[in-house]
Amino acid sequence: MVKNILIIGASQGIGNGFVQQLLTDTNVHHLFATYRKEETAKNLLSLESLYPHKLTTIKVNVTKENDIEQATQYIKTQVDNLHLVINCVGILHEDNLQPEKSLKHLNADNLLRYFQVNTIPSALWAKHLLPLLKHSQRSIFASISAKVGSIEDNHLGGWYGYRASKAALNMLLKNIAIEYSRVSKNTIVIALHPGTTDTQLSAPFQKNVPQEKLFSVSLCTQQLLSVIENLTIKDSGKFFSWDGSNLPW
Ligand SMILES: NC(=O)c1ccc[n+]([C@@H]2O[C@H](COP(=O)([O-])OP(=O)(O)OC[C@H]3O[C@@H](n4cnc5c(N)ncnc54)[C@H](OP(=O)(O)O)[C@@H]3O)[C@@H](O)[C@H]2O)c1
Repeated sequence: MVKNILIIGASQGIGNGFVQQLLTDTNVHHLFATYRKEETAKNLLSLESLYPHKLTTIKVNVTKENDIEQATQYIKTQVDNLHLVINCVGILHEDNLQPEKSLKHLNADNLLRYFQVNTIPSALWAKHLLPLLKHSQRSIFASISAKVGSIEDNHLGGWYGYRASKAALNMLLKNIAIEYSRVSKNTIVIALHPGTTDTQLSAPFQKNVPQEKLFSVSLCTQQLLSVIENLTIKDSGKFFSWDGSNLPW
């Protein structure tokens, strides 16, 4: 079956890895990939020159709903439907923002920033992309969450804003799954945990991670695409780890 796919946040890291892997998949018909700024998207933009008929890049700052709406409108001019959407945008650290080790490090602006980037955009994408995901074939709306966003699995504390923004993302995804089950019956909505993966996001926190537990980007995307391949409609509204196991909310 030929597929149309959207990867959100494809300039670097896991999102870029998905693009690299999917470009070699002959079942993929049209691949859309978003980036925020040219400076970090050079590799993605050069892939677009190499695969001009397969890959289309779109500039989107996911904190602006207008960007999300315009990107969706553009995709609608190119294809009738999407079979897979993966939101890979996320921050753990950024400029002066560092994950908080203790309550004394909390500040309201930083907490809001985590929610602005890690939480809210998935719901806005789900709002705008619904008409493209609603069709007679299987479609998947996935967002990369993180195991540290599991409330039940939280034994260590710390990383207040990141954990809370991912826990809230998980709730939004569960809600989206419930609403989509009524209005877009073939769409599977899931949260994914990629495992610790060697990207700029995890780089400052890798020193205590055993080598075998630190995935390369290509291993990570292979594993997540294999989880996605095996999904059925009964899996909608669940939180999956990289090995296909279910994580507690
Ligand atoms: N790596 C891990 O070990 C790990 C573990 C668990 C969960 N995750 C999750 O996996 C996802 C991908 O992480 P990664 O490791 O691939 O991180 P990454 O290499 O830092 O990539 C993050 C992506 O998000 C984009 N982004 C950030 N803010 C944005 C904004 N306002 N608008 C548009 N795009 C924006 C970045 O674009 P720019 O290039 O423009 O900055 C980049 O493409 C994240 O949700 C992360 O929380 C990662």
